[in-house]
Amino acid sequence: MELNKRYRRLRCTAAIRNMVAETSLTPDNFVVPLFVVEGSDKKEPIPSMPGYFRFSLDLLKDEIVELKKLKLNSVLLFVKVPDSLKDNEGKEALNPQGLMQRTVRFIKEIDPEIIVMTDVALDPYSVHGHDGIVAGEEIVNDPTVEVLANMALAHAQAGADFVAPSDMMDGRVKAIRNKLDYAGFTNTGILSYSAKYASSFYGPFRDALDSAPGFGDKKTYQMDFRNGTEAIKETLLDIEEGADMVMVKPAGAYLDIIRRVKENVAVPVAAYQVSGEYAMIKAAAANNWIDEKSAMIESLMAIKRAGADVIVSYFAKDFAKIVNGK
Ligand code: PBG
Repeated sequence: MELNKRYRRLRCTAAIRNMVAETSLTPDNFVVPLFVVEGSDKKEPIPSMPGYFRFSLDLLKDEIVELKKLKLNSVLLFVKVPDSLKDNEGKEALNPQGLMQRTVRFIKEIDPEIIVMTDVALDPYSVHGHDGIVAGEEIVNDPTVEVLANMALAHAQAGADFVAPSDMMDGRVKAIRNKLDYAGFTNTGILSYSAKYASSFYGPFRDALDSAPGFGDKKTYQMDFRNGTEAIKETLLDIEEGADMVMVKPAGAYLDIIRRVKENVAVPVAAYQVSGEYAMIKAAAANNWIDEKSAMIESLMAIKRAGADVIVSYFAKDFAKIVNGK
């Protein structure tokens, strides 16, 4: 055949493919989500997230050391709060001796260089499993924002580098920024979950933290998955309100949103490959229906290719092990 273009030439060998690859991903791009529980000597498996665990603080130390060895330098913290400490207002979230605050201090003592990010939302602390304060059937915005700002301040005081509001209340980034600045925490950053969808892919996470909503769903605050332009609107507003980085969540089913956000903003874009995305790959691989390693790499590269600068993923360690040749 006479062909003056043969595009397969650039796919001939692995070396050529590597040379011209448009997307690369390193451990630096990752944020590792960590689940923390009270007590000691605990490394509890999460059934719907095979290979993932909840750690008590003492055992979290080994995990942090391992992450460092794998060149994973950033963590996003979630705590599992005992039922006895849950209420409607999230009082425990503000306790300077609360689990989140202790965890931040603990990690910073092990290694001050680790980037510590904290989840800011009321659901782990809420008797209702909602991200905000409940009045009747409503998740009330403004009183919730006040608590969230105080919660963010408590995290900053404990030493968090970034607070990550995941609640989707209106005006929370502005309130958090003001609260932090007024208290002198001008260097504490905000990674805002700007475009967070009401998604069925959060199921395993809610198992991990025992935080499923007791009534209703989260559709009055998290976004409708039929919408894309709304993601841009939410994201631009968060940046205006002071977000240093913005996030799209979930990732895999929202690659179009990641791309659109990336093209509309001038701040780093993060994407969260959530618990259900992890669980699906794990479950299919456990059945030998797909190859876990290659499906994992493909899913992560797709998120990066779509435009994510930073990826929050339960696969961070597995990916870093491959990169580090372990
Ligand atoms: C809570 C929060 C959720 C996740 C991160 N922060 C759950 C939810 O909104 O119900 C989900 C993460 C995951 O599924 O991996 N505000």
